[in-house]
Amino acid sequence: MALATRLTQLLGIAHPVVQAPMAGGMTTPELVAAVSNAGALGSFAAATTAPAAIRSQVAAIRAATDRPFAVNLFVLAPTEAKPSEVAFANALLAKYRLELGMETNAAPPAKWAEDFEAQFETVLDLAPPVFSSTFGAIGARKTAALKARGVFVIGTATNVAEAKTLESQGVDAILAQGAEAGGHRGTFVGKFEDSLIGTMVLVPQIVDAVKVPVIAAGGIMDGRGLAAALSLGASAAAMGTAFLAAPEAGTHALHKEALGKIDDTGTGVTRAVSGRHARGVRTRYFDEMAPHAAELPAYPVTNALTTQLRAEAAKQGKTDLMVMWAGQGARMATTRPAAQIVAETVEQAEAVLGALRGTR
Ligand SMILES: Cc1cc2nc3c(=O)[nH]c(=O)nc-3n(C[C@H](O)[C@H](O)[C@H](O)COP(=O)(O)O)c2cc1C
Repeated sequence: MALATRLTQLLGIAHPVVQAPMAGGMTTPELVAAVSNAGALGSFAAATTAPAAIRSQVAAIRAATDRPFAVNLFVLAPTEAKPSEVAFANALLAKYRLELGMETNAAPPAKWAEDFEAQFETVLDLAPPVFSSTFGAIGARKTAALKARGVFVIGTATNVAEAKTLESQGVDAILAQGAEAGGHRGTFVGKFEDSLIGTMVLVPQIVDAVKVPVIAAGGIMDGRGLAAALSLGASAAAMGTAFLAAPEAGTHALHKEALGKIDDTGTGVTRAVSGRHARGVRTRYFDEMAPHAAELPAYPVTNALTTQLRAEAAKQGKTDLMVMWAGQGARMATTRPAAQIVAETVEQAEAVLGALRGTR
């Protein structure tokens, strides 16, 4: 085990690589199992999945691998939406609905989001080897309940204060999410813009502030990134965007294609899609909605109000209205089987670190 770390030892995995959780149908049981079978840690993003489907997907993962894997949730409080804010958002979205040939007055969704408490109870009952979460801290009681069931608990931090909060609640490891990362920002302490901290400086500051192992995330696309993360004191690298183009990932074909088309300046952070800041391929929608983004209702209300619109845009192949979450390293994502991504990343990191030591 050339790249053994505290985390690989605690989890009993061969490689210090985590396939980051990515909600929206990307983390199919095939992807999660392929990554875990390759000796890394696969993660099933269950945030937008109902309890019954969480059970069936976890069963499918368990049928495909006997290695450790993670289940991930968004920490959400029950949602209330003011009719006035819903009307405001709908008025702004009407133009796009019209453009896609949809009803301009969308029917209100049956629920704004899956009930976090019900999802959590389901995951607790299923007791996957690893639980991870973002958007907040689950609290000491829930953390202890998971650990009592033998579950390894990971929390997401985008600044040092969040990392310390998570550690004080008893988490086993912290995922440090740098500003480069694709998808939603996990920030729950302070303003989101204050925590757009690059992975390069976030990881060592969190490593210095906590005793538990740290997983670096954000812009890690290959073995050079993994070697850098380990050099900064991380116990593993979590890679999201790098796995988006894998054949096992449930990513829309045009989303996969877009990754290779944009350059290093091609992503942006917007609040206009979901009501929470997230990084993705910059589109006409991002640009046109920028002046209004701050006034839209908070997650999950805006997320629910744009769901059908995004699905319709994807169906019609209109990439300017599609949502394609991706990190700043998107251009470096290549279509390779997940097991190959893991193997080549580890091999390259070993070579980089070996060259630095001057031993190879
Ligand atoms: C498409 C997509 C969806 C994501 N969904 C989730 C999620 O459901 N839960 C979560 O904790 N993080 C989510 N993230 C963030 C990733 O877990 C991780 O922090 C990020 O991918 C790391 O940066 P990278 O994309 O540059 O590798 C998502 C990221 C992407 C790209």
